[in-house]
Amino acid sequence: MNSKHFYYLMLILILIFFSSGIVLAQDNIPKVNKSCLTCHQREGFSTKHDGKEISLTVDPAVLADSV
Ligand code: HEC
Repeated sequence: MNSKHFYYLMLILILIFFSSGIVLAQDNIPKVNKSCLTCHQREGFSTKHDGKEISLTVDPAVLADSV
């Protein structure tokens, strides 16, 4: 492989690196919320307090629109 090929290869790798960063930045649900959603997105996910059933399900679409 000559040095010209090596230069182009590095350029392509750098472009892939940056474009994947842009895709992640466009995601409107932060990573920390996604980890919460692994449990809280489940339908019928709930707990009981003082004998009352409390829903813990969070709709990701509602969450994305919220503050
Ligand atoms: C491993 C699964 C899991 C993950 C991940 C998780 N939770 Fe929970 N969460 C629960 C469970 C189970 C309860 C119910 C606890 C109880 O019975 O009081 C709960 C309860 C809650 C409550 C209290 C609801 C109430 O009215 O009592 C809040 C608020 C909450 N979670 C927010 C979050 C946030 C914010 C994150 C992310 C940072 C998160 N949870 C991540 C399982 C999870």
